[in-house]
Amino acid sequence: MSAPQPAAAIDGVTTEPAAVRVRGARRTFTADLAPVRALRGVDLDVRQGEFVAVTGPSGCGKSTLLNVIAGLDAVDEGTIEVAGERVDGRDEDWLARFRRGHIGFVFQFFNLLDGVSALDNLIMPGVLAGMKRRAAESRARDVLDLLGLSDRAEQVPAVLSGGQRQRLAIARALVNEPTLLLADEPTGALDSEGGLEILELFRRLHGTGQTIIMVTHSPEVAAGAGRTVRMRDGRVETP
Ligand SMILES: Nc1ncnc2c1ncn2[C@@H]1O[C@H](COP(=O)(O)OP(=O)(O)OP(=O)(O)O)[C@@H](O)[C@H]1O
Ligand SMILES: [Mg+2]
Repeated sequence: MSAPQPAAAIDGVTTEPAAVRVRGARRTFTADLAPVRALRGVDLDVRQGEFVAVTGPSGCGKSTLLNVIAGLDAVDEGTIEVAGERVDGRDEDWLARFRRGHIGFVFQFFNLLDGVSALDNLIMPGVLAGMKRRAAESRARDVLDLLGLSDRAEQVPAVLSGGQRQRLAIARALVNEPTLLLADEPTGALDSEGGLEILELFRRLHGTGQTIIMVTHSPEVAAGAGRTVRMRDGRVETP
């Protein structure tokens, strides 16, 4: 069950497993007054290399969907597959390993470690995944370079601008070379110019083959993705 599914050969053409396959996902939260049905049977397919924007009104379940795909939260019913592997029904250890190997997550408010330098923020995920410090540092510097932050390596997040902090958060999500980049309103805390810069960066990453699912409230940002998925009341709307 834990082995990755081999690519299937159909008519001599090798097909990769989908990047993400969600079927009948349901998630209900217990709340004081009445249970909140955040996901009410979500189906979603994302191909490898796709750049998908997820939009919809506040409270419709966008963050919950991203969290269950990342294995940060569990579905009550339904199945979640990432790169051909079932994510639902796994224990915490398996999920932690899975996230280190497959998932890069970017949050609206950056979630950086404030007390350490930009470089150390990027070295840590590699070291946690078992890399030697030297190798983790070399890859961290490559990613800083890629995101135009080389001259900020020794600075702490507090002295960076909002846009630079978000680029650093994206750098950290990318440093372990994830199968899937998930971003929950990555431009939400930025002005519109800063938001479009982050969008450009995502488009560039998409151009190199990175699979991306990005939640956004901004129609302008969503328009830059390859496809938009609309959610409403815990479901994906059919186009
Ligand atoms: N941990 C939780 N406990 C209880 N209720 C929750 C929890 N997380 C989410 N919810 C509820 O589930 C519903 C969906 O929340 P979710 O955060 O997925 O919405 P969203 O589409 O991301 O909204 P927004 O655009 O405001 O970020 C909401 O009604 C929310 O209050
Ligand atoms: Mg949300």
